[in-house]
Amino acid sequence: MRNKLIAGNWKMHGSLAGNPALLQSVAAGAATQSNVSFAVLVPFPYLAQAQALLTGTSCAWGAQDVSEEAGGAFTGEVSAAMLRDFGCRYVVAGHSERRARHGESDRRVAAKALAALEAGLTPIVCVGETLDEREAGQTLAVVYRQLDAVMESLGVRRLPAIVLAYEPVWAIGTGRSATPAQAQEVHAALRQRVSNADWVVGSGLQILYGGSVKPSNALELMRLPDVDGALVGGASLAADDFLDIGRAAALA
Ligand code: 13P
Repeated sequence: MRNKLIAGNWKMHGSLAGNPALLQSVAAGAATQSNVSFAVLVPFPYLAQAQALLTGTSCAWGAQDVSEEAGGAFTGEVSAAMLRDFGCRYVVAGHSERRARHGESDRRVAAKALAALEAGLTPIVCVGETLDEREAGQTLAVVYRQLDAVMESLGVRRLPAIVLAYEPVWAIGTGRSATPAQAQEVHAALRQRVSNADWVVGSGLQILYGGSVKPSNALELMRLPDVDGALVGGASLAADDFLDIGRAAALA
């Protein structure tokens, strides 16, 4: 049985003054739930604060992006080793907002995942199709292409050290989640793709669903056989909602 992870992607939200209440509530709630893991993925400037407030709790923390470079003249970028300095366990690679707004290619996302892995971080690698791609019947072709780039770069034997996240772009921040059938179809297909290369790795791969996950739809999504947790955006900014999603995952 795969462990469930509930990861909160804060995106560009938070403030030095406001974060402690949220972090402390999440940590307190996470302590009461034993069979589900929690993590928060905060903006870079708040990593030190997350580290200070979450060290010793059962909530992990991480960042939302990482450079594929180890160091050097890369203005504005943050290396995986720097994230390790702040105690990060996770980092998102290839969120659709970065793919779309910053032109991150499949190859670059794969390179970021590799850089994270080599620094001892767990990359949460996002894949997902746009609405146009879904309507054109391209959903599986798109997510396979995104996954294959990562498999080629890392090698299938290293996939147990990553978390995959299926985030249909049309479901992000729209309030319109994928239906359970839509989510299960893509999750099962992704797992099968990895299983074709290595059955043991495929069956153990942790695959999160992301896109308008909230307390009201979490249970039906978390019950799906190939869904191993959630990557939560908006609902991770309210401790009660985030923890309720965790409760649903624990019940599922
Ligand atoms: P929402 O939960 O706000 O739809 O965001 C999902 C997401 O992009 C998480 O990475």
